[in-house]
Amino acid sequence: MQLKTLKSIKNWKGKHVLLRADFNVPLKKGEIKELYKIEKSLPTIKFLLAKGAKVILLSHLGRPEKIEKELSLKPVAAALENKLEKEVKIINFEKIKKNPESYWVEAKNLTDNMKNGEVVVLENVRFIKGEEKNDKVVAKKFAALGDIFVLDGFAVAHRDAVTVTGIAKHLPTVAGLLMEEEINGLNKIMQKPKKPFVVVLGGSKMETKIPLLKQFASKAHYILVGGGIANTYYFAKGARIGKSLIDKDHKKEALFYGKKKNVIMPLDFIVGTEKGQKCHIVDVDEKINLKNNEAIFDIGPKTITYFAKIIKNAKTLVWNGALGYFEQHPYEYGTYAVARLFATRAKGRAFGVCGGGETVEVLKKLDLMEDIDLVSTGGGAMLEFLSGKKLPGVKIVTK
Ligand code: 3PG
Repeated sequence: MQLKTLKSIKNWKGKHVLLRADFNVPLKKGEIKELYKIEKSLPTIKFLLAKGAKVILLSHLGRPEKIEKELSLKPVAAALENKLEKEVKIINFEKIKKNPESYWVEAKNLTDNMKNGEVVVLENVRFIKGEEKNDKVVAKKFAALGDIFVLDGFAVAHRDAVTVTGIAKHLPTVAGLLMEEEINGLNKIMQKPKKPFVVVLGGSKMETKIPLLKQFASKAHYILVGGGIANTYYFAKGARIGKSLIDKDHKKEALFYGKKKNVIMPLDFIVGTEKGQKCHIVDVDEKINLKNNEAIFDIGPKTITYFAKIIKNAKTLVWNGALGYFEQHPYEYGTYAVARLFATRAKGRAFGVCGGGETVEVLKKLDLMEDIDLVSTGGGAMLEFLSGKKLPGVKIVTK
C-alpha cells in the first residue's frame, strides 16, 4: 500500500486547495474544550500556506439536524486565527441560516477573492443536506470550489461522505501530513507488531470493541480488559453486578472472548455508589454479589499489579478506552495507573498507539501526551482501522 502524499503534487502556488480536516472538537457554551484536533491539523495548513496555496478548510462539527448556531465553526475559525497568527475568514452564518442555498454563493465569493497564502473556513459541511450521504450533486458543488483536494481528517476516514470520498472523484487527491502520520503509525501495529504485543481495552461501547477483540485475539499476546466489556463478561458468567454498565446484546461475545487465554479480565474491582461512596474491593475469586444500588466502577489493585507486569514487558502497545468511571473520585486510580504505565513504555521502549475521546482526555489531564508515539485523533476511525477494515478515506489516498 502506497500513500499519495503532499509530496506528489509539485505546484501548489495559487491553487485553491480544499483541505478536509476534522475540527469536530468538544465545545461548552461556545468555547472549545480541547484543541488537540486543531493543533494536529496545523502542520498541513502551514505546509500549504508556505507553498503559496489558497487554503479552503472543510470540516463537520457534531451531528446537526438543521443549521444550528451551537454547531457553527466560528469558534474553530477563531482558534485557527490565533494559532496561525493570520486572518481566517468564515462563511457568514446568519446568511446561510436564513437561506441554506446561499452557502454556495457565499463560499464562491469568499474563495474567488482569495490571495495566495490565505485561509478560509467554509461552514460546518453537515449543514448541507446530502453531505453525509455522499450526494453526487453536493460533491460537484464542493469540488467546483477547488483545484486540489487534501484529506487530512483521519478521524472521518471511516465515513463515506462528500467531503471524504465524494470530492475525491472530481479532483486530484492526496493525504495530508496528519493522515500520513496516523496511517503509517497504525500500519505498524497491523503489519509487524514487535513482540510481546499488548492491547488494553476499556470503555463502554461494546459494539466498537468486539471487532477489535476479534482482530487481536489471534495476534496480541495479551488483551487487558476493563470497563463495560469486563462487566458484561462477569454478568454473562452469572455474577450479580448491581447497576454496573453492561451490554446485554453482546453477552455471548463477551463470554466467548473473555474465556480466551490471552484475554485477561480483571481479577478484582472497585465497587461503590455512583457518587463515589461506600467503596470497597471485590475479588473475582469470591462470589460477585453486588447490592442493587452498587456498581463496578474501576479495576482493583490486584488487577493493576497484574496488568503492570504485562505492560512493562510489552514491545508494542495499543490502548483504547478508560478502565473505569475516571471522572468520579475515587474511581480514577485504575485508569490513571494504566495511563502512567502505558506512557512509561509507549515511546522508546515499545511502540505505542492510543486514541479515542476519553483516552486522550486522560492523557492530557496527566500530561502524558508527549510520551506516546501516536495519539490518534480518531475514535471510531482508529477502532475500525485496527479492526482490519479498509476505510473509504484511506482507500482514496492510496495508490
Ligand atoms: C469523531 O469525532 O470521531 C469524528 O469527528 C467523526 O464524527 P462522527 O462520528 O460524527 O462522524
